[in-house]
Amino acid sequence: MKSDKQTATANEIPAQGQIKSRKRVAERGEVFTAEREVNAMLDLVKQETERIDSRFLEPACGNGNFLAEILRRKLAVVARQYEHQEAQIHLQSAIAVSSIYGVEIMMDNVVECRQRLLDILCEWYGSAMHGAVAPAELCAVWRYLLERNILWGDALSLCLPLPADATLIQRRDAEPIIFSEWSFIKDMVLRKDYRLASLLQAQSQSVPDLFSDQGDEAYLPPKAAKEYKPIHYMKIPTYYDTQQ
Ligand SMILES: C[S@@+](CC[C@H](N)C(=O)[O-])C[C@H]1O[C@@H](n2cnc3c(N)ncnc32)[C@H](O)[C@@H]1O
Repeated sequence: MKSDKQTATANEIPAQGQIKSRKRVAERGEVFTAEREVNAMLDLVKQETERIDSRFLEPACGNGNFLAEILRRKLAVVARQYEHQEAQIHLQSAIAVSSIYGVEIMMDNVVECRQRLLDILCEWYGSAMHGAVAPAELCAVWRYLLERNILWGDALSLCLPLPADATLIQRRDAEPIIFSEWSFIKDMVLRKDYRLASLLQAQSQSVPDLFSDQGDEAYLPPKAAKEYKPIHYMKIPTYYDTQQ
């Protein structure tokens, strides 16, 4: 029988696949969470993980262990609720992915995370649509959303990462992390861009003596950095780049 001490030590050793290199563990604390822990933690907010449009942000998302499982859970709901409804399968898959956000400081993890989520979508589509291959136009929507939502950034400075020896001026002028909020009304989508810093600041500033109907504290909404006109969601990959 193992003593408590032995068990604790064994539990702390990361399994293969949880680390990429000792250097990265030392420099970035990069130890990925094992699947069992991911599921146990997500089960604590099970209802939210099974709501297609619930928004999740992971501020140090690594290669996406949590985001991948959240996406899988949402897509399972889409497949169940919209069986044989192709148009809804397309729309709801876009809503599911549009509400998943991540920030990660290591670019290779960002790329891996986006690709991993895209692979999950493609594989899911095949099983939800009885072996069909996801249409290229829909894949382009998923890809665009992933590129906008899984961002390379520093979750501490809330800006794009800078080299360790960056000057004070470079730090002052660092580019802020900007997230896009996607709000769907039927098959139209409204995109609003926000600085991550403003989103967090707004959340931390409740309005004194003001409460919602449910008795929750009220918050002033953050100011959008940019707002676009509503468009059909299938135009997502082509519309915004013409609006810069
Ligand atoms: C302990 S790992 C966890 C990864 C993932 N959340 C998981 O549970 O599998 C921490 C991650 O945070 C990233 N990271 C470290 N400092 C960061 C920062 N300032 N901003 C964003 N990501 C950061 C690392 O590159 C690493 O991928």
